[in-house]
Amino acid sequence: MRQTGFIYGGDYNPEQWLDSPEILKQDIEYMKEAHMNEVTLGVFSWSILEPREGIYEFNWLKQILDELYENGIEVILSTPSGARPKWLADAYPEVLRVNADRTKNLFGGRHNHCYTSLAYREAVYKIDRQLSEQFGSHPAVTIWHISNEFGGECHCPLCQKAFQQWLVKKYGTIEALNKAWNTVFWSHTYQNFAQVESPSPKGEQMLHGLNLDWKRFVTNQTADFIAWEKKAIREGGSELPVTINMMYDFKGLNYYKFKDLIDIVSWDNYPRWHKHDEKEIMLDTAFQHDFMRSLLKKPFLLMESCPASTDWQSVSKLKRPGMLSAASLQAISHGSDSVQYFQIRQSRGSSEKFHGAVIDHYGGRDTRVFKEVTEVGSQLIKLSEIAGSQTIARVAILHDCESSWAMEDAQGPRNTNLHYKDTVKKIYHGLRNLGLNVDILNMEEELKGYELVFAPMLYMFRSDIETKIRSFIAAGKTFVMTYWSGIVDENDLCHLGGTPHQLMDVFGFRSTELDALYDEDRNCGVSTGAFFEADKQYECKNFCDVIRADSAEILLTYASDFYAGFPAFVRNVYEKGTAYYICADFEESFYDDLCKKLAEEKKLIQVPFAVPDGVSVNTRENARRRYLFVQNFNQEAFSVDMQGTAWKLLIGSGTGVIGRYETAVYWMENN
Ligand code: GLA
Ligand code: ZN
Repeated sequence: MRQTGFIYGGDYNPEQWLDSPEILKQDIEYMKEAHMNEVTLGVFSWSILEPREGIYEFNWLKQILDELYENGIEVILSTPSGARPKWLADAYPEVLRVNADRTKNLFGGRHNHCYTSLAYREAVYKIDRQLSEQFGSHPAVTIWHISNEFGGECHCPLCQKAFQQWLVKKYGTIEALNKAWNTVFWSHTYQNFAQVESPSPKGEQMLHGLNLDWKRFVTNQTADFIAWEKKAIREGGSELPVTINMMYDFKGLNYYKFKDLIDIVSWDNYPRWHKHDEKEIMLDTAFQHDFMRSLLKKPFLLMESCPASTDWQSVSKLKRPGMLSAASLQAISHGSDSVQYFQIRQSRGSSEKFHGAVIDHYGGRDTRVFKEVTEVGSQLIKLSEIAGSQTIARVAILHDCESSWAMEDAQGPRNTNLHYKDTVKKIYHGLRNLGLNVDILNMEEELKGYELVFAPMLYMFRSDIETKIRSFIAAGKTFVMTYWSGIVDENDLCHLGGTPHQLMDVFGFRSTELDALYDEDRNCGVSTGAFFEADKQYECKNFCDVIRADSAEILLTYASDFYAGFPAFVRNVYEKGTAYYICADFEESFYDDLCKKLAEEKKLIQVPFAVPDGVSVNTRENARRRYLFVQNFNQEAFSVDMQGTAWKLLIGSGTGVIGRYETAVYWMENN
């Protein structure tokens, strides 16, 4: 059925209300009133779909699909593998997980399953294939939602065996593995692959190569499981697109590795609005949206968001009036083609009975939340021509999952806090406050399409990133890297011969020593006048890289300590381009000033006004038109003056005043 315009709907669990057909009828009326055109069905419905092994009961689902279709509501259909029925766990205990401390879980919870277990895989295959055969060509069904929020790991004997086989494939010989993991350290040399066990708090945790490969294996095993579910769907006859719903800042899996398995990226977004300053949450959420969009470089789906308060957070804060629209349109502005909620109707019992929903226990539509949900529905209709449009970014930040895994495991130079995320955020903030679209990249990607790329703390160099950086700069582009980059290889072995590995000539210096500072310590970078105005100072903390500059031009020098006068920020011209290196963890204003200067130099700024903190600016475009989103997350109103520009108003106030949590969208011809 796939309609045009944005998808608007969310998770719906009619199986919890099968004894109340009048409620289900009413829900559909409410959905239509709120301008919803979609529901996600079947997440966690296994015990109702297959109450006993091999006995399928699909009638209820068929009836609901028919009814939704008749009412113009499309369905994203989920496979039920995120939680399993009791009969399955009883008949095949191997499906339940074993933890890192080697204790085995009892039945309960969700996501409590082994990705390796053949018994689990077979059971999942059967139900997925049945669903595909029965409903893959139902006119209401548009997209497959595989499982739910993949995550976690299993250390059972089956997984140990699979891990060993994965290692054999990767290394070929045990000698190669010993070398890659540097196992001679503390006499941990293996004689054969069968001796290798996953990391455990009760056993081996200090072999960084093992830790890293285990994480890679977990991602690989999850990817294999996704591929398995997809195969069941395809063999059931459905060729509809598939998605998996990803999670906020999730470190357990390298999401990048799933990009070739899925057709659409989707993710579940539960920001803690109103906790601190809105602008911080806005920026943090923006980064996640950009990360998700960058995985496939095309529109994604906001698969879940909360229409009211979120019960699993420490405090279930209500969304202030207007916040729902601001948060929903923020997703759209960053490239989402949907706004979807968890959940449409609130459960009566169990752990999510107080989780916010479009329709709450009261059951009426005369609620504040329902009204705001309806308002978002009408906004999406007004914006519908934007659905499907692309986000074009000429600026990117390298934020590599495997490098972060290794860095977090490093032991030294600061075990208290590396402030990695803060460093990434400072760069992101500097770029976003210029109204720039930003892509978030993995090291395996090409840099070619960008003008300006930042690499904060790119600790690991893998996937030949050093060559990619070299050619990027040589071609006339600008690359900015910070302290603690190019330190280890893909096995987490330290590079020999000086760092940043293989790029010392490109950056014109060698890093000699890295000083880590106590939390309360401060140093300062003083401008030489070659880049920032003379004598301008920027405070730094946490890290001070002490470098020996060769051809690099010194732009800031340290103010104090034994390295006072040494370079703190340098630039090197390499062939047609420029390499910048930031030696220390500088304050936010350093990054703001740096981003502004570089973006101006590269003529990247396209927004006709200055963007203050708490204001979000994004563009999307299609062949016909460009769209500019301006959103205000501040308490005070913000004024934009578009007079004399080519931008015309699509939604928002014509006065140019954008109030708290309000959004204005403009358009112009694309030529
Ligand atoms: C996750 C899950 C949903 C639901 C929500 C509640 O995102 O995918 O099933 O539990 O959390 O916020
Ligand atoms: Zn297992």
